[in-house]
Amino acid sequence: MNIIFLGAPGAGKGTQAEKVADTYQIPTVSTGNMIREALANGTEMGLKAKSFIESGKLVPDEVVIGIIQERLAKDDCKNGFILDGFPRTIPQAEALDRMGVIIDKVVDIEVPDEAIMERMIGRRVCPKCGASYHIVTKKPATDGICDRCGAELVQRKDDAPETVSDRLNVYHEQTEPLKNYYSNAGKLAEVDGIGSVTEITERVMKALEA
Ligand code: AP5
Repeated sequence: MNIIFLGAPGAGKGTQAEKVADTYQIPTVSTGNMIREALANGTEMGLKAKSFIESGKLVPDEVVIGIIQERLAKDDCKNGFILDGFPRTIPQAEALDRMGVIIDKVVDIEVPDEAIMERMIGRRVCPKCGASYHIVTKKPATDGICDRCGAELVQRKDDAPETVSDRLNVYHEQTEPLKNYYSNAGKLAEVDGIGSVTEITERVMKALEA
């Protein structure tokens, strides 16, 4: 199954993508994680993306489209994949269509802006393996340490309150129109993103099986 997760920054796309990936045994392709990895490795693409990602703006379409094209051509995507954070603009969705990629379902996780801030401020991430936690709702077993790889957790630069507010504006202007794009294609499933992670996973699974 080829799945897209849509939703505002901090809506829980990464959290839910992880659950669905486990159930369906397919990889999650997160453009955000890939860009952050390139940044940490100091690659040319990472350096190009730095100012955009840190200020909450979108990285130029041609950069992310190139990354996705390369990633989806890999063997592990042959039996399906989850796109987390791509597409984020209409030109990115059109590029995906032009690549001949058939999307089965687009799951849109709906969380009002007021609830987003709380989630982002409490988020802590692992700089080594990309795992994501929350200081209240998803604590690691040992405070500040990644359960998965033992690295010290950090706060993302773009999770600062003023940057979150800019990211929400970018989302409403450039990404939200994708709801119509995929609704017109008969692929959109809207899921209420308020509730516990387990409750939302149940809703997501139901939407995928419908
Ligand atoms: P990216 O990394 O994709 O960030 P995002 O979409 O803004 O999404 P987040 O990762 O912030 O949130 P999420 O929805 O995955 O939520 P999560 O599960 O972590 O992109 C970052 C940047 O990269 C962009 O701003 C842009 O610059 C660039 N970029 C990436 N893709 C691009 C593209 N295609 N085009 C151009 N530029 C691109 O959850 C958030 C927190 O809430 C966590 O702490 C979690 O534990 C907690 N939480 C989750 N579910 C619940 C719940 N039910 N209740 C309470 N807390 C919860």
